Formats: sequence, C-alpha cells, structure tokens
Amino acid sequence: MFHYKDGRLFCEKVDLEDIAEGAGTPCYVYSTQSILDAWRAYDDAFGDLPHLVCYAVKANSSLAVLAMLARAGSGFDIVSGGELFRVLKAGGDPARIVFSGVGKTPAEIELALRSGIRNFNCESEGELSVIDSMAGRLGVTARYSLRVNPDVDAVTHPYISTGLRDHKFGIDIGVAREVYARARSLRNVQASGVSCHIGSQILDYSPILEAAGKVLGLIETLQADGLPVDHVDLGGGLGIAYEAADQAPGISDFITDLRDRIGRARLTVMIEPGRSIVGPAGVLLTRVLYRKKSPAKEFIIVDAAMNDLIRPALYKAHHEIMPLRQREGDSLIADIVGPVCETGDFLARDREIADVKPGDLLAVCSAGAYGFVQASNYNSRPRGAEVLVEGVAWRLIRARETYEDLINGETV
Ligand code: LLP
Repeated sequence: MFHYKDGRLFCEKVDLEDIAEGAGTPCYVYSTQSILDAWRAYDDAFGDLPHLVCYAVKANSSLAVLAMLARAGSGFDIVSGGELFRVLKAGGDPARIVFSGVGKTPAEIELALRSGIRNFNCESEGELSVIDSMAGRLGVTARYSLRVNPDVDAVTHPYISTGLRDHKFGIDIGVAREVYARARSLRNVQASGVSCHIGSQILDYSPILEAAGKVLGLIETLQADGLPVDHVDLGGGLGIAYEAADQAPGISDFITDLRDRIGRARLTVMIEPGRSIVGPAGVLLTRVLYRKKSPAKEFIIVDAAMNDLIRPALYKAHHEIMPLRQREGDSLIADIVGPVCETGDFLARDREIADVKPGDLLAVCSAGAYGFVQASNYNSRPRGAEVLVEGVAWRLIRARETYEDLINGETV
C-alpha cells in the first residue's frame, strides 16, 4: 500500500507529503485497505471452518482502526479494562470479545462480565476463583478457557516469547487437566475452550502448529472427561517482514496449514492476530531537523524519537526508513536519531540512507503495530497525530497532543 509514484511516496492514492504538511510531524499514517486486506486474508482462509478472528487490540487501539474492524465483523482480544472500553466505544460486539492477560483486576473482571464478553482466557487458578465469585455476585455464568503454556519455543526476541516454562504466562499444559477438574466445583464458571499464545513476530510458524497439536491433545482429554470444550484459541504471533531480507509467512498459508491440523476436530477456532493485521499498514512520518558529524559517525537528527517508536531502543528492532522523495545517487551510512536525551534514542543505527537534508521528510516503515500504543510523553513530548488513508482521502483520527494535554489532571 506504500509505493513510490513519480518519485514520491504514496499511501494508497495519497501523497504522504500532503499529509505531513497538513497534519505535521511526527505523524502515524495507516492504510485502510492494508488493514482490511490482512483481516480478510485470515477470515477468508478459514473458509467454512467455524472460526473467529479476534484482532489483538494491543497492537493498535485507535478508535478508527477498531471501528473499521468491528464493521468488517472482527472479534477482539483485549488485555485490560481500557481496551474493553475502547472496543465498546468503537462499536465492537461484546459477544466477540475474549479477555486475555495475566493480571486481570476484580474491577476489570466485573466490567467484562457486565458487558457480556464471550470468554475469559484465564491464566491462573486464583484468577479463575475471582471470576467465579464475581460472576456469582452478578448472577451470571462466565465462560472460560485456560491459557496453557505448551513449552514450545517460538524462536523470536526473548522479550516477546511467551510459551516457555519459565515465562510468566499461562498454566503449564501438564497440570491443566487437574485445574479444569478442580474448577468443576466452581458454580459460576463454565469451561468452554483452551487457549495458548506462544509469542510474537514469529517468522517460521511451525512452533505455532506444534503448540496447536499439543493443545488439541489436551482438548481431546478434556472432552473425554466430559467437559463442554468447544473452541481452541491459538493466540496471535504471526510475524511481518521488517527487513527486506525477512521472509514473512503468508497469512493464508498459515491458516491453511492450521486447518489441516484442526479440520476434523469439530471445534471453533479462534486466533488473536495483531501485528500481521496492522503492522505493515502503518508508517511514522518524521522530518529531518539536523545533520551532524562526529569523528566516528554521521547522525541524521529527526523530529520523531524513542517516545514515538520505542521498538528499536527496546528490542533493537529494524524498521526500514524511506525518504518521501525518492533520491538517486548519493547515500551515506548514518544513525537516525531523535531529540530525546538518551543514547538509546535511535530509530536506526549504521543505516545506509539517501543523502537527506534538514527539512526533508522520512517514513519509518511497519509502524502500524506497537507504534503509537507504546508511545509515551517522555521528555514532555506531546504524542504525535494519527491519520487514516482511504483511497484518495485522508483524515485525522487523533489530534496531535498539546502542551495543555501534557499537564491534564496534574496539580502543583
Ligand atoms: N494474544 C496475546 C495473548 C498476546 O499476548 C499477543 C501479543 C497477541 C495475541 C498479539 O500478538 P501479535 O499477533 O501482534 O504478534 N511490543 C512488542 C510485541 C508484544 C506482543 C505482546 N503480545 C513489539 O513491539 O514487538
């Protein structure tokens, strides 16, 4: 969806320079078509197998993005009361919401029960008993899955790998059967499925298939025990190509392989993709402020920083950076850095880049997922604007924060 036309970088049919001039920088720009195409790639690939694609809200929780997915018929995977509030505001259907996360508070559980969400992906026995007593107080029955930890290595960055035994997530798959059995004595919860999520930015999805195999084995046992388990939730995690050299797995290849494993099990299949739906659909626009040379290095100082996109600083993540005006000829090796007072504040290090000058505009690619949602006000920097493109049109979906916003709620 992002391509050069006559030497200028476009999102769908909009010249990104028009957006940078109109909305200012730093600014996140998302392509409607790219988001919907990816969501539909999941949905279509399931074909007639009963399924629900629950978009992982944490990847990008802007109301306009949620509303677009809600209209497409998406379900939602949430991890907080705040995400639930957003999904409902955006018109999401509570009956298509699943609630994941290791530390749901009683207040969040109450809000979810009152809203009538579909399912809790429960991560501990303590949580299950809180859900049970809250459901009892409200006079409802809560449907739950245990999130099991299948002890499968997702082979990704250690901070975003979640399925190994020493990770805080889920319940060891080896004890899950006993936990389901004990939970039968709880009156206000009903087992409905099994869930798992082994990690994120997974480029080779065979570990997800391996985890699915283990989870299906558990489901067979639970069904034989007489539990009404009718769905499997395999989490999210499919990776995207951040670098030209990355081989991103195809969404429909992945789902087709998954169907082959699960097809006969007569279960509803849920998945919780985030990054693979919104990641490639977004860029972060930034303007070059200065060029500077030290004896060792060249620096390109831009107006976006680690507070706008923390992934390079936090995970040493690679994001392609493209000039909005295509340039032939000279390039240089430089660090592309922001104004924040930290050596870790960089968007790219030792990167070959066109010989851009102060005032030029750049697009930091694949910033649609875990971009704005992980932005902060560090260094008292207002968070940037967000723009949604659809065909030839673009509109502001979040105004740039003001200095007044920065002190909202504070007193001296
Ligand atoms: N479901 C659960 C239970 C999750 O924990 C996650 C992501 C997802 C689904 C969605 O995974 P995805 O399809 O987006 O890979 N901040 C990190 C990513 C953290 C992911 C956390 N959990 C980053 O910037 O790479």
